[in-house]
Amino acid sequence: MPVNTPITPSDPVILKTIHDMQTTSRELIREGKSIGFVPTMGALHAGHKSLMERAREQNDIVVVSIYVNPTQFGPGEDFEKYPRTLEADRKICAEAGVDYIFAPENLYTGETRAFVEVGELGSVLCGISRPSHFRGVATVVVKLLNIVHPDRAYFGRKDAQQLLIIRTVVRDLNIDTDIVGCEIVREPDGLALSSRNRYLSPTERRQALAIHKSLEYARNRIAGGERDAMKILEAMAEILTQQPDLELDYVALVDADTLEDLKVLEGDVLAAVAAKVGTTRLIDNESFDNL
Ligand code: PAJ
Repeated sequence: MPVNTPITPSDPVILKTIHDMQTTSRELIREGKSIGFVPTMGALHAGHKSLMERAREQNDIVVVSIYVNPTQFGPGEDFEKYPRTLEADRKICAEAGVDYIFAPENLYTGETRAFVEVGELGSVLCGISRPSHFRGVATVVVKLLNIVHPDRAYFGRKDAQQLLIIRTVVRDLNIDTDIVGCEIVREPDGLALSSRNRYLSPTERRQALAIHKSLEYARNRIAGGERDAMKILEAMAEILTQQPDLELDYVALVDADTLEDLKVLEGDVLAAVAAKVGTTRLIDNESFDNL
């Protein structure tokens, strides 16, 4: 082999039907291979890639799904305009050493009647402005886990409420997959990576940084010993509402396991923010353990 031949990662195999994915998984499991699974909606970025890399380290085979799931979008949300960038996504998956991309056209038949209900955890925080969102997420994730049968599935802490709901569903429905939570990947200035960041104009992009700034503020106050939630929340809201194009959805300090509002910060605490910047809805959070 010539000395300077670059080692190019091999292209992932693209599977387009539920049947092909199921047959492939069944065969891999029969061969005794462990499967790591990263569910996504595509428009992949370094946050998604970090999940794939973690899966690559811990499993024989890595499967990524790319599917913009209609049941988790509400009326008037961005389902139609959600970025679909399969060619670029394929490159990122190849770089991360992904073996299979499951990119189905549709996961629902016209007759879908069964959904996964997630109870109270789905009605707070993002569930207030997106009432059927988590039912859609839980349903598609259970479908995907049943199709892929992974040993481990990887989710970002960026979507902390989603991660908690998925852990709960997997536990309550006895699904035999370990759920692995992965750290939030950020831009150098602190903005959490999101597929929706590409909607932001340069001015909106600057204003969006207030979301991270407000969470940093909370971190500093908590590190300084403040435990009165209201004091921190008021100042966070002020940082956010100073931005003219930012419309605050919520700012919250909640128990990390129940998502219930806290008056006094103690135990494991989640600080969470959701806001629209222009027309783009963004979320971010920070966790504090053992306060
Ligand atoms: P999507 O928004 O594409 O995100 C796929 C996974 O990447 C999620 O687990 C999300 O938390 C993680 N992720 C996104 N941005 C991240 C960041 N900056 N740092 C770390 N992880 C990040 O979440 C969904 O898709 C969907 O709801 C899905 C679970 C696929 C169900 O349709």
